Amino acid sequence: MSGQPRKRQIFPLDALSVGRGVAEPLQRQLYRTLADLIRRGVLPAGSELPSTRELALDLKIGRNTVVAAYDQLATEGYLASRAGARAVVVDLPAEPEPADAAAAAVVSRSLAQAGVRLMAQPVHHGTPGHVAFHPGIPDSAHFPFGVLSRLLARRAAHAGHNLFGTYHITGLPELREAIAGYLAAARGVSCTPDQVVITTGAQAAFDLLSRLLIDPGDHVWMEEPGYYAARAAFAVAGATFLPLPVDGDGWHLEAPESAPRIIYVTPACQHPLGITMRAEQRQRLHQLAERFDSWIIEDDFDGEYRFQGRPVPALQSTDRSARVIYVGTFTKLMFPALRLGFIVLPRSFPPGISRALGTTGQFAPLMLQAALADFIAEGHLSRHLKRMRRLYAERRQAFYDTCNRELGDFMRLLPSEAGIQVVARLNDHLDDRTVALAAATQGVNVSPFSQYFRAGRELHGLILGYAACDAPQTARGISALRRAFVACRA
Ligand SMILES: Cc1ncc(COP(=O)(O)O)c(C=O)c1O
Repeated sequence: MSGQPRKRQIFPLDALSVGRGVAEPLQRQLYRTLADLIRRGVLPAGSELPSTRELALDLKIGRNTVVAAYDQLATEGYLASRAGARAVVVDLPAEPEPADAAAAAVVSRSLAQAGVRLMAQPVHHGTPGHVAFHPGIPDSAHFPFGVLSRLLARRAAHAGHNLFGTYHITGLPELREAIAGYLAAARGVSCTPDQVVITTGAQAAFDLLSRLLIDPGDHVWMEEPGYYAARAAFAVAGATFLPLPVDGDGWHLEAPESAPRIIYVTPACQHPLGITMRAEQRQRLHQLAERFDSWIIEDDFDGEYRFQGRPVPALQSTDRSARVIYVGTFTKLMFPALRLGFIVLPRSFPPGISRALGTTGQFAPLMLQAALADFIAEGHLSRHLKRMRRLYAERRQAFYDTCNRELGDFMRLLPSEAGIQVVARLNDHLDDRTVALAAATQGVNVSPFSQYFRAGRELHGLILGYAACDAPQTARGISALRRAFVACRA
């Protein structure tokens, strides 16, 4: 903090001001302001400061105040002062980079390959407040928050040792039992509570299963179009992908050229097409999994919302070789921010899952698990589901009708059987990412279809969630989407 000033400049006095009506003493204000100007280089090295007399007169403050501030600055090395001469700004070493920039530089240098992959994956969380037409978001207005809060309060009031420590790392026994019971009745899944592992949502399950089952280079046979967030978890673990084509005719199950370690499917409600796997395709899938000795990950995220006939039982229910790993979630049944999901492990799964969970730190809050166990056991879940099924069936029909009427010039909704979102194919050769961006500027939140293809046969369209919007919101959303299309065509 030394160095002799080379070029002398007189500091412009009008850049300085101090206030009398504030709590901070004048001397402190003057000191702080000058130190800041020097650090930021506004007062460059070599600048001469006014004499203490001049500055005191100019600022209409006592000279002693200025002397004290200058003394402090000299003591700290900001100013060089000599008797009988003006104080001069010292040549300070350059300040370190601002904290954010420095931190960013360190992070980019130190990421592992897996970290780079992890941070490069696509996400679609939508924009808060843009309910229309966020894919897969359930309705919030009809959720019984009052019931959930009462159950939480009751559990909290009586919580003791059982909910205090991290004892139940694979999940609270009551919740695992409630889920096993629910799955048997609603999804035809056959399991005992000890096969159920609670996770913080389906995504956490995919992450955990990827770590446990995939070595770099292992093949994952993955639906195309398929759920990009599950694919992201497999990709981070180093998977190589084999495409499993799906279209209006269902799953095209020609045996892949390499043996897949994992087959990932959404059989009850294909994501994003909303179609259901037929019996002969299920059978063929089981046969291929046996032939290749693969695990099947069945993502049953939305199977309850089926609008023609009854819900189709899970693939797990016809698994005879104990290789289906069933993943479920409360994201659609209740709401996404609950962050509760589960895995049903087949009997053949190697032991040690609680050690894996302990290491990853994946542990859903026990109090919430307890309230959810009560929510299921006391019938609130099935009541809520029944109500929502009715509501979504109406909304879905209205959505199809209005879209066909208002947006038929621009897009065509594909038929689907299940789920709370639908796919629209674009009529023109419009790029779906461009349309999604234009929609976002109109306050509409949609997901581009092309994002669901890994490579090759990329199709353009929009994934539209219809469930969260009442009739006026749907009408407004569709008008806004129309404006977005018009802007894109223009
Ligand atoms: C195909 C699919 N699986 C699972 C989920 C649920 O994931 P999570 O439980 O992590 O919210 C979603 C959510 O939109 C989904 O679309």
